[in-house]
Amino acid sequence: MASYRIAVIPGDGIGREVVPAAIHVLEAVGRVHGFTCEWTQFDWGCELYARTGRMMSGGGVEELRGFDAVFLGSVGFPGVADHLSLWGLLIPIRRTFDQYVNLRPVRLLPGLRTPLANRGPRDVDFVVVRENTEGEYSEVGGRLYRGTANELVIQQAIFTRRGVDRVMRYAFELARTRSVPHVTSATKSNGIIHSMPFWDERFAAIAAEYPDVRTDQYHIDILAAHLVQHPDWFDVIVASNLFGDILSDIGPALAGSIGLAPGANINPERIHPSMFEPVHGSAPDIAGQGIANPIGQIWTGAMMLDHLGESTAAACIVTGIEAHVDAGQVLTRDLGGTATTEDVAREIVARIEQTGVIEPPH
Ligand code: NAD
Ligand code: IPM
Ligand code: MN
Repeated sequence: MASYRIAVIPGDGIGREVVPAAIHVLEAVGRVHGFTCEWTQFDWGCELYARTGRMMSGGGVEELRGFDAVFLGSVGFPGVADHLSLWGLLIPIRRTFDQYVNLRPVRLLPGLRTPLANRGPRDVDFVVVRENTEGEYSEVGGRLYRGTANELVIQQAIFTRRGVDRVMRYAFELARTRSVPHVTSATKSNGIIHSMPFWDERFAAIAAEYPDVRTDQYHIDILAAHLVQHPDWFDVIVASNLFGDILSDIGPALAGSIGLAPGANINPERIHPSMFEPVHGSAPDIAGQGIANPIGQIWTGAMMLDHLGESTAAACIVTGIEAHVDAGQVLTRDLGGTATTEDVAREIVARIEQTGVIEPPH
């Protein structure tokens, strides 16, 4: 029987609630589909930081290297400055393991309400391919004359040809697996004078390698507006680190809730482990109440199983989520219900156990 070694970092806030809930679902699907996961817990996060001044203990990121995947909840909590918590845990993992693709699918599931009038599941179905290791997120820069009237801050963005080309190629390859091969580039070459014209040049060069894939590009400002007004125009969107971050929160808002949104930080060459983490954060406003929506974390678990080669089991989880939300009985507050995190996980487990082996669609 296949067995996978998974490093689990629940992290902070609702991460500590949705990760155990998702593990129940992954265990259930493993029983049905004949594999096991060996979970190794890492109690890393803001509580550890408060005690020790470090977000990770022991050997830090290197401790994760031997695992088949990392399953992470969320990082960051009031009391620790966000730039310290995130640059102390989440971002170093993405970078050390060269997880240069942050894959964030957005799909309006049947049964859920979108805030967009007259739109349905056929209109909202796209993937954000976010560059995940460079771009606007960089520690190059500095601060001078701190606290004086002459205070000066420099924050450098980094765009390398290797970094840009590889994430764009990933987007084009992904587009070829979808029913309509179509890639949209998120740019801002009108206002950002060096990096974004370069981004556009590389997009044109990589697009030329994929003549079968339709392409377009929009400046990020109008792209954000078009996502709201014309979500059906989009299929695969390739974006820099910051632009992709923003688009990947707008998307789930259109699909009903950020609490549904899955994500994967992928090292496509599989030299290093990939990390699976939903789009949402630690939600301090609802943490500790047991009411967070676990579906984003559960769906993220399906993306992890897919990456590990358990595609039938992954499809079974997604089918379970679809059936669950379509039934509309047991929903958390973000979707208009009153159910708890564990209620939702229990329902999805029951569906998976009832249905048994479900063949993937197509
Ligand atoms: P957030 O995603 O944590 O919360 C935004 C809003 O969405 C809140 O109202 C929250 O209650 C709601 N929400 C989020 N997930 C939900 C769920 N599963 N079910 C129901 N409601 C949900 O974003 P934020 O408030 O900007 O950030 C809070 C903290 O999380 C900060 O420290 C931030 O840096 C961190 N963060 C971490 C990650 C990550 O670890 N990947 C991602 C985003 C934010
Ligand atoms: C995300 C988060 C992180 C990011 C933050 C917490 C650093 O917003 O995963 O989307 O911007 O990458
Ligand atoms: Mn984000």
